[in-house]
Amino acid sequence: MRKKIIITGGLGYIGTELCKLYSGVSWHHNIYVIDNRFISERVNQLRNWNIEFIHGDILDKNLVEKIFKDADIVHHLAGVTDVPRTKSESSTTQDDKIKIVGENGTQNILDAISKKCKIIFPSTHVVYEGVNEVKKNIKEDEKTQPVLSYSSSKAINETQLKESGKNYIILRLGSVYGYSSDTMRIDIMPNLFSKIASQNGTLKLFAGGRQIKSLVPLIDVARCFKFMEEKENINSEIFNLTKDTLTVKEVAEICKKHNPRIKLQETNDEVPNLGFSLSNKKLLNTGFQFLYGIDECIKEMIQKWSKQNISKELEYVRDGEDLFIDKRGMISNHELTEPIN
Ligand SMILES: NC(=O)c1ccc[n+]([C@@H]2O[C@H](COP(=O)([O-])OP(=O)(O)OC[C@H]3O[C@@H](n4cnc5c(N)ncnc54)[C@H](O)[C@@H]3O)[C@@H](O)[C@H]2O)c1
Repeated sequence: MRKKIIITGGLGYIGTELCKLYSGVSWHHNIYVIDNRFISERVNQLRNWNIEFIHGDILDKNLVEKIFKDADIVHHLAGVTDVPRTKSESSTTQDDKIKIVGENGTQNILDAISKKCKIIFPSTHVVYEGVNEVKKNIKEDEKTQPVLSYSSSKAINETQLKESGKNYIILRLGSVYGYSSDTMRIDIMPNLFSKIASQNGTLKLFAGGRQIKSLVPLIDVARCFKFMEEKENINSEIFNLTKDTLTVKEVAEICKKHNPRIKLQETNDEVPNLGFSLSNKKLLNTGFQFLYGIDECIKEMIQKWSKQNISKELEYVRDGEDLFIDKRGMISNHELTEPIN
């Protein structure tokens, strides 16, 4: 069946990777991206992938109504991600923006889509940031404990979806890591550490790096969104989408393995909690498989951002002897060292 598939926030970090996957099937389906940014190169790339780009805002109710009413699938990735991580970083303006785009934007989409449409939504492991003790393998049905505006807004989104009467899939993502071109989110810990490592810098480990984190590779996140679109027998469900559970210090040590010149420095800076991890058992029971891992992703990021020792001997060019000179000037020939065959 030919489907109308809409990706909100499709110019972002996860969205770009998801569009790359859909570029392989964009002649069989009608794929749309809606994003309120306009990034020339990326829009051009979407056009080349036969994906329609709509420069618009999910807060524009009329636009959303018009575009979403006949959608079969919505991957709803649009949201404010430049968010405070601790109470001291919070500001009312940013908190309001997170809330309005998160809650009103999501409600606009839920109001517009039909009952036959499936909406796939990224929530976050941070909905458990209020958990006091270190807790491992939290299951999907555990009560959420949001604290800051980002996690509170995601917890409200989960309720909006569950109470909408529409067909939804909620994926609770760990922190997403992995290389991406110009959409890269450097504010995520393994990505930031890899960037610092590529520049031979110092990794600062707040609270000694004891905090544990649920992490998940970028391409596997995109693959899981597509997997959920394709699985018609999975409906109105919530899944944790996390792969690795590591301490911040363990992530730093992987960086050091790939670049021994970096320094690790333990500090006493504030962390919101000592961490928690989510169980991915329910997701694995659907048959979904992870294909990527933290070690190879960190290695890739460090390599791509480090100085490369490119061999200068690959091409040898020498100036030709028979220079062409006339009244217009001189044209020098370059001679190849070997005949071209
Ligand atoms: N990256 C992670 O680690 C992570 C973890 C958990 C959940 N998530 C969620 O996944 C989603 C995508 O995350 P990402 O890392 O790709 O973020 P991102 O910031 O790279 O992408 C978000 C995109 O949404 C767009 N957008 C924002 N407000 C909009 C609006 N009002 N109308 C239209 N477009 C709008 C932005 O322009 C951007 O292109 C977000 O909802 C985020 O909260 C991400």
